[in-house]
Amino acid sequence: MTKFPKNFLWGGATAANQLEGAFDEDGKGLSIADALPGGRERFSIVNQPNFDWKIDNAKYRYPNHLGIDHYHRYQEDIKLFAEMGFKCYRFSIAWSRIFPNGDESEPNEAGLKFYDKLIDECLKYNIQPVITISHYEMPLHLVTEYGGWKNRKLIGFYENYASVVLNRYAKKVKYWMTFNEINSALHFPVMGQGLVKSNGADDKKNIYQAWHNQFVAGAKAVKIAHSLRSDLMIGCMILYATTYAYDANPENQLAALKENQAFNEFCGDVQVRGTYPAYTESVMNRYGFSFKDLEVHDGDLELLKENPVDYIGFSYYMSTAVNVTDKNLDSANGNLVGGVKNPFLKASDWGWQIDPTGLRIALNELYNRYQKPVFVVENGLGAVDKPDENNFVQDDYRINYLRQHIEAISGAISDGVDVLGYTPWGCIDLVSASTGQMSKRYGFIYVDLDDNGKGTLNRYKKASFNWYKKVISTNGEEL
Ligand code: BG6
Repeated sequence: MTKFPKNFLWGGATAANQLEGAFDEDGKGLSIADALPGGRERFSIVNQPNFDWKIDNAKYRYPNHLGIDHYHRYQEDIKLFAEMGFKCYRFSIAWSRIFPNGDESEPNEAGLKFYDKLIDECLKYNIQPVITISHYEMPLHLVTEYGGWKNRKLIGFYENYASVVLNRYAKKVKYWMTFNEINSALHFPVMGQGLVKSNGADDKKNIYQAWHNQFVAGAKAVKIAHSLRSDLMIGCMILYATTYAYDANPENQLAALKENQAFNEFCGDVQVRGTYPAYTESVMNRYGFSFKDLEVHDGDLELLKENPVDYIGFSYYMSTAVNVTDKNLDSANGNLVGGVKNPFLKASDWGWQIDPTGLRIALNELYNRYQKPVFVVENGLGAVDKPDENNFVQDDYRINYLRQHIEAISGAISDGVDVLGYTPWGCIDLVSASTGQMSKRYGFIYVDLDDNGKGTLNRYKKASFNWYKKVISTNGEEL
């Protein structure tokens, strides 16, 4: 197997809204994640035509309110990450801790103090923080008052927020990302853009307008970041689902190419290359509008051109297969993406098609398209864990999944790809983004908490904990 570079960033990844809890402490405002009910039906609830974002504790449970109580237990958690030998830890800052409503001009000092402590705790163990500025947790007020990211005013609010956190932490933190899985909005605009049926999610023009606003906001963050520290690296973050044509039928090949452009490539093309791609008009025409229908201000395109990102962060869980010639094929479930079932692949308990080779392909596609370093900032297996009487989980299925994906990264490195690091998702069990479940677990660390919010919240090492520790200490030589 190809050796991993000496400074390869092994670590793990989380997001504030899925683990911190303390949703209303120390001045924090509500985020959209705080208003998402738990359970597999969470997206259908928020997409009811008259949904109004009111929290209704009598009707629903809100698992993000407690998370796994990391806000009060971060020291214990970081210590466990350090014991595994993490070189880096990817987490996000909850925007609504810093600007509770999102539109204030002055930040909430208590919120900033929490991240001072979290960052220092990481640095104490020589763990490099990798920060996502916005990970599915925009302040709820920006949705209810302004209609989410389709409103251009959000550019200024985000710029203000990004400027505060970058100024405060750039000295201590080298790696940043602007928006988590920005492209997921094509199919699910709620978490990234604050758009649901009741405020315009069904009109694709709103999604592209929101993206344009996010591209401009992201470019402003890149500009600020680069002015603060010359070796700072700020990336985009793409949900990458390697896209295959179902077969060699040219119609399916063409459809796969178009799906790939619209989903995997569009946002990255703008954020990494700094220009809208040649196929922009064709994608927009497909949804019944044109680029000239978007609100684009003088100077926007220059700003994008002058401030591309430094690297491509991406999540990879599964691949997808496209077939437009046979309507009878079963569709596949997936990480906010669709497609048909691929007969060559097995799927997780949640129907996500497991495909390590797809990760090697993704790394090659991304690196060769953009020629900037790539960073696998999410990957993992959501599974039901069954702890024994000592709360030990023998999660060989997870070890197998991760081993195969690490081998795929090694393969990509041998193909010449410049890979910065690997941060498996949910390194400690946390609340699922798509279903709000605790029972969908990804971690090396088991958290005693169930889907009904019951449990001690105690942390226990799974078998994968010691396995990953060995992987890191041998720099990927022992898998
Ligand atoms: C990504 C998100 O889509 O996948 C994470 O960036 C999310 O926030 C992860 O948790 C896994 O998805 P899920 O739905 O299993 O939690």
